[in-house]
Amino acid sequence: MSIKYKFPKNFWWGAATSGPQTEGRFNKKHANVFDHWFDIEKNAFFNGVGPNVASNFYNSYKEDIKMMADIGLNSIRTSIQWTRLIKDFETAEVDTEAVAFYNQVIDEFLKNKIIPVMNLQHFDLPVELYDKYGGWESKHVLDLFVLFAEKCFALFGDRVKHWITFNEPMVIVEGQYLYKFHYPNIVDGKKAVQVLYNLNLASAKVVAAFKQSKCAKQGGEIGVVLNLTPSYPRSQAEDDIKAAAFVEDFFNKSFLDPVVKGEFTPSLVQTLRKDGVLWESTAEELAIIKNNTVDFLGVNYYQPRRAKSKGAVWDKTKSWMPDKYFDDYELPNRRMNPYRGWEIYPQAMYDIAINIRDNYNNIHWYISENGMGVEGEEKYRNADGLIEDVYRIDFYEEHLRYLYKAIQDGANCFGFHAWTAIDCWSWSNAYKNRYGYIAVDLITQIKTIKKSGYWIKNVAKENGF
Ligand code: BG6
Repeated sequence: MSIKYKFPKNFWWGAATSGPQTEGRFNKKHANVFDHWFDIEKNAFFNGVGPNVASNFYNSYKEDIKMMADIGLNSIRTSIQWTRLIKDFETAEVDTEAVAFYNQVIDEFLKNKIIPVMNLQHFDLPVELYDKYGGWESKHVLDLFVLFAEKCFALFGDRVKHWITFNEPMVIVEGQYLYKFHYPNIVDGKKAVQVLYNLNLASAKVVAAFKQSKCAKQGGEIGVVLNLTPSYPRSQAEDDIKAAAFVEDFFNKSFLDPVVKGEFTPSLVQTLRKDGVLWESTAEELAIIKNNTVDFLGVNYYQPRRAKSKGAVWDKTKSWMPDKYFDDYELPNRRMNPYRGWEIYPQAMYDIAINIRDNYNNIHWYISENGMGVEGEEKYRNADGLIEDVYRIDFYEEHLRYLYKAIQDGANCFGFHAWTAIDCWSWSNAYKNRYGYIAVDLITQIKTIKKSGYWIKNVAKENGF
């Protein structure tokens, strides 16, 4: 079979996942915000399923990693849970059982010739730090996060050469402070803006700490994973273009600009200042952000954003929200993933890549997540026991064609990670939508490779399709 889309040498064909979505809470001494939310409000989770068992990775990591290798994956991103590794948050004293666990996981990846990419924060803020200090609102918590990061670099930096500060920091802002899908589900635009700034500062501080580490001196790299949702205006009318530009500033550039260029977007700063909601910062902090940009970028892409001008005038008595400047726009006849309710628009892959090439120093980057969540996949299981998820293969190939074209046109992209390798726990959606190349039976914990798993194996082997 001839290969039409051949990717660059050493391309990463891998998948992403996270500690809180796979490990289960076995032996974990602290609760993160999602553990806690589940403990107090089980019915906020699909079918009342929480993170206690997840995909049982804590107990089955050896078999799981072997399966990842069996389907040809050469790199995997997961995360180290702050609430597992650290016994005492103020001193960063570690839990020795947790150190042993992560050591074994990392060694197992290496043994299976899988590059481990370790993320330090995947929506799993320790709930104690929220209760005591207000979590990411508090600059003290940022410093505790740096202590944890330093511990990770010292313990695992001899073998882990690719580090991530945060997964989707914008989703933390949206989930915790704007649209109520992460505990504590606050709606407070001003706090959201401060947290947005604080997360940028936290990421830069971790980058600074990394630069001092042995790992960096031996060639290790650190990046951040951003969910980029290119924003398209409803029309070329001035008001629609303005609305889409604000969406781009607030939801994409608010992290992309500081992490790559070391500076906040001037038009965003201007709008927030005019509205009296600009974050509090110091010259010293801004210098940390300026001097500690990332080595590489991870981009999660699932869906675009479409915006139109605000229909109604923003009620001045209401507190500030970014929604003051736009309405979401639903493109007529758009393609949808009906299960997740997300638009399917593979062309955005190309637009993201070209934007990074042209406006972000052509920094090297990879797709750190892309995927299709589908409910009820058991109905696609054939008589031989194989889930025939051809829709997922089509979805990936469509996206990869646009990525390929962008690479031909000079995009500096070094890999493609699917979400995800093995079906995992998806926050409040729990196990509703499945994303994996490998299915998991929640009752028996038996894992089986889906058709897409055999597909990626071939893609990885041929370095294309
Ligand atoms: C990304 C996250 O936003 O999307 C993952 O990094 C998440 O943690 C994935 O699981 C899929 O989204 P969802 O909400 O369908 O699980």
